Parts: sequence; C-alpha cells; structure tokens
Amino acid sequence: MGNSAKADAANGARIGRVTVIGSLNMDLVARAPRLPRPGETLAGHAFAQVPGGKGGNQAVAAARLGANVAMIGCVGDDSNGATLRGSLEAEGIDCTALATSASAPTGVALIVVDDASQNAIVIVAGSNAQVTPANIAAHEALLAQADVIVCQLETPLDTVRSALAAGRVLKRTTILNPAPAARKLPPDWFPLIDYLIPNELEAATLSGVMIETPDDARRAAQTLKAKGARNVIVTLGSQGVLALLDGADEAGVHFPSPNVEAVDTTAAGDTFVGGFAAELARGSAVTEAITFGQRAAAIAVTREGAQPSIPHRSEISA
Ligand code: RIB
Repeated sequence: MGNSAKADAANGARIGRVTVIGSLNMDLVARAPRLPRPGETLAGHAFAQVPGGKGGNQAVAAARLGANVAMIGCVGDDSNGATLRGSLEAEGIDCTALATSASAPTGVALIVVDDASQNAIVIVAGSNAQVTPANIAAHEALLAQADVIVCQLETPLDTVRSALAAGRVLKRTTILNPAPAARKLPPDWFPLIDYLIPNELEAATLSGVMIETPDDARRAAQTLKAKGARNVIVTLGSQGVLALLDGADEAGVHFPSPNVEAVDTTAAGDTFVGGFAAELARGSAVTEAITFGQRAAAIAVTREGAQPSIPHRSEISA
C-alpha cells in the first residue's frame, strides 16, 4: 500500500472496488421459541421487516467495511423495492445497475429465528429471477472497474456464470458464495472462481463430503479445489473457518472463531463474505482478509436482522 493509500485507510476512507451481482429481499422475520415442525402453528414473540437478500447483505457489508461498492440486481416496482433501493443508496452503494421489474414483485424471505439463534429461511425470488446475462453484459464496465466481483446463487445460474466468466476474461478477482446450497455446480464453473466460500452445508452439497468438524471441511475443500477453484474457504460458524489457499499447505489453515454470544446468525455468512471482499479489494493479504471477515461476522451474530446487524469498519478491532 502506498503512502496516500495508508493515509486514506487511517482516515477510514473507502479503498478498492467491489461489484456485487445478487439478490435483494425484504426479510419478514419472526422470533419464536423454536423452529416450527411440519403442520404446526407456533406462537412467535416478535416480528420485524428488514432489508436483506444475500446479494444486498454482501454489498452493504463490503461498503460498511471499507470498499466502494456497485450492485447489479433487480427489485420490483413496489414499496419493498423502493425501500431496498433506498437502503443501498443510503450506504453510498452505486445502484445505477439496479433494475426495476415492471412484472415481478420484489423478492421476499420468510425467516424464523429461534431462541438458540438458529434460523430457517424460505425465499421467493420475485424480481431476483429477472437478473439476466444481458444485465451483466450491459454493465460490464462495473465488472471491469472492480477489484473484486462477488456472486451468490439467489439469482439465475446462467447470470452468475456469465458474471464469473466476464470476471475471468477481465482478469478481476472472483468470489462465489454458493448459497443457498441448492445443487452441485457444473464442472466448468470451478476454474472461473478465485475464492469459493461455502458454509458447511454448501460445502457438503458441492463436494459430497459430510461435514461436522474442521477435518471434514478440509476434505471437502480438497475435493472442491481439485475441481479447479483456486482457493476454498469453508465457514463453519462457531467452529471457525477452514481455508485451502493457492500455493499454501495442502492441509489448509484453520482460523478459530472469536468467542461471542450469538443472538441471530442471519447474514453472518454475508458479513464474512462482504468483509473479506472489502479487505481483499483494499489490498490486504488473504489471511488478513479472512480474520477481518471473521471479526465482522462475530459482531453481526450479536445483533438481530440481516442488514441492521452488519458492523462498520470503525467497529472492528485491529
Ligand atoms: O443470508 C441471509 C439472507 O438469506 C437473508 O437476508 C434472506 O433474505 C436470504 O436471502
């Protein structure tokens, strides 16, 4: 980092550019003593409506945690869409590539969070299903100017693939958070991914390796790296992060989690991905970006909601 970049960093200025391709959802969140069983009606004890969606959450995280961010996505022409657009704009995120659908409502997520801070989520894609490869082509300039491109799997797969492929052609750093854990990825995706960041469920789905411990995560990461992903970083919640990094020890590195009292894990993974992307875009080493993302996610789990829980850079201790 040069002297002026160091001075900017010390002043808390945003450094580096992150472009996020992904979903925006209005989260409808009920808190309940436990998650309901099939066929059961359960009395909850609180309700909140908050901005979410994995793409939006990762964009907000990257912005609050130090990057200049642009978002490629689609909301509906409705009040939820206006609220979600407004909350990204309030973070200073470039929304010029955020489309408004005339035919589909804004995406929603129905979330139950139990007293043990675990959640269950159902998403209804709505306008997120209308982010197309044509949107990626139309906004290639936002990919070209990015230091880091971030995708998840809540928008159509052909769109995500075109964003990753464009990133590869443009020689940008690409991150795929393969969430939600819906299916295996086609083999030709892996060489397009610089950093594959699944949680344990997603890593198990993609690799076929059941994961309960960091050792299991290591085996899953080795399988995924052998498929062609340049780096694999498996997030394991309170068990930390297992990273298999390019050119480093084949056994991978385990990063333990900061010890915190969780109240809601919603968007913890998104905070990790956004913080990691922001720190990489600022020019930090990968291992520093991982621990930075972990510190940010550890704060997010102590707060309720998706975007409201995401911390600012000034809150992260060195
Ligand atoms: O990762 C958390 C997010 O998943 C929520 O905000 C919800 O919208 C779903 O996309």
